[in-house]
Amino acid sequence: MKFFIDTANLAQIQEAHDLGILDGVTTNPSLMAKEGISGQDNVMKHYKTICEIVGDGDVSAEVIATDYEGMVREGEALAELHPNIVVKIPMIKEGVKALKYFSDKGIRTNCTLVFSAGQALIAAKAGASYVSPFIGRLDDISTDGIDLIEQIRLIYDNYGYDTEILAASVRHPMHIIKCAEIGADVMTGPLSAIIALMKHPLTDNGLAQFLADHAKAAK
Ligand code: E4P
Repeated sequence: MKFFIDTANLAQIQEAHDLGILDGVTTNPSLMAKEGISGQDNVMKHYKTICEIVGDGDVSAEVIATDYEGMVREGEALAELHPNIVVKIPMIKEGVKALKYFSDKGIRTNCTLVFSAGQALIAAKAGASYVSPFIGRLDDISTDGIDLIEQIRLIYDNYGYDTEILAASVRHPMHIIKCAEIGADVMTGPLSAIIALMKHPLTDNGLAQFLADHAKAAK
């Protein structure tokens, strides 16, 4: 399973990268705004810096335009920034056309704001490299986001679509574990959820005991 971090915060990206288990980064306009990044030049510079930190991993960069021509224009400029940029396109009619355009041109895409199996099926047919079902936001409205991942996995396996399922809007470690059980290809979440996966009180207690015994024996 690939681990992406869902942030535009450089310190957090660096921390996750330093763990040695980071496969990529996803951003969105809200995450960029949260870091105070605005203006075309600054946005482009920020994406470049993220790509440099991540090294080998994919970096999703989202278009702002909502019309086909605008998405193509913005997506092409983003793709030119760095070979690891994946153009993030919203699941709307114009977006589907843009997904197909980029797929035909060999530019990788991440179809975002996906909340149903039907949307995921269309994204795969349009040739999206990744599809991003937002599981946390579904949970927020009392709909099981994990069920959606299961449905998409079944559909993609039925037809051999190679679009990767990128479980997004991950909020906590159980989301990651459930997605891994089902076979999501990728998850993107906050650093806190990744760190929480490593934590266990028995590990902490056991280590404290080992160190205490070692110190006693050394006396
Ligand atoms: C996906 O790529 C989005 O950036 C993200 O996962 C949205 O998550 P949120 O619901 O926590 O905003």
